[in-house]
Amino acid sequence: MNYECILVETVGAGARKTGLIRLNRPKALNALSDPLMDELGHALKAFDADEGIGCIVLTGSEKAFAAGADIPTLMQHDFMSAFNSQLISKNWEHILQVRKPVLGAVQGFCLGGGCELAMMCDVLYAADTAKFGQPEIKLGVIPGGGGTQRLPRWVGKSKAMDLLLTGRMMGAEEAERSGLVARVIPAAELMDEVLKAAETINGYAAPVVALMKQLTNQAFEVPLTQGVQIERGMFHAVFGTANQKEGMDAFLNKRAPNWPQP
Ligand code: HXC
Repeated sequence: MNYECILVETVGAGARKTGLIRLNRPKALNALSDPLMDELGHALKAFDADEGIGCIVLTGSEKAFAAGADIPTLMQHDFMSAFNSQLISKNWEHILQVRKPVLGAVQGFCLGGGCELAMMCDVLYAADTAKFGQPEIKLGVIPGGGGTQRLPRWVGKSKAMDLLLTGRMMGAEEAERSGLVARVIPAAELMDEVLKAAETINGYAAPVVALMKQLTNQAFEVPLTQGVQIERGMFHAVFGTANQKEGMDAFLNKRAPNWPQP
């Protein structure tokens, strides 16, 4: 597939590399058009299937991660066309099928659908320039990519209501305080730091990384007791893998682990 709205590259020096995807519609602040979301889904799927890739980093530009869904396109829809064309449902959630960790690196505007896409990443790192918000209310609409559901889970009900009902933007420090982002990093260092985190993850045993991601995301889907039971079952299961033997043997023998190939 020839990409026109995203830039895709493979980075890193280790055995497993990082798949880097940059949203790239600079004139529209990376507004998430249909073609962009199709391309993003395709690139995510390709990196997920590539055994040479450990994890994926999703980012935008200095000015914007993404300023939302593409407003001129949305403007053309009525109810029937939105329903019949499966607006949003058809190409926004490929990211949720990815088994490898997806790290979001946010600079500048991260608004509306942009914030919703960011919240579908597994972990978010923000530059000190990042601004998050769900301004749909100012356009006379509501979020359609999970904003009313994921935002309260990330930042709590009161902060989510404040953001959703006022449409205001929240800076990086506030986003970190409220749990939306893992870390705030000076803009000039953001990509280096995120790629460093990615490289650390790439160095671990791939099936264990995938399991860790799956179980952690499951914390938002199942009741606590059930989640802990599933974790316990998986914890017992990892004792049947060569990764556990290698990791613990390496520790006890004071050497670096040499993870078996998946
Ligand atoms: C299409 C957009 C856009 C968007 C900005 N642009 N946001 N185009 N869709 N979501 C375009 C502008 O029209 C403009 O194009 C160019 O990007 C630069 O934007 P400016 O407004 O000139 O920049 P600035 O003054 O710096 O203001 C930045 C901004 C503002 C605060 C981010 O652009 C803004 O408020 N954008 C809309 C944000 C928003 O409402 N997002 C939610 C969308 S609805 P031209 O051609 O004029 O230079 C949504 C629903 C999701 O996301 C539901 C399903 C997932």
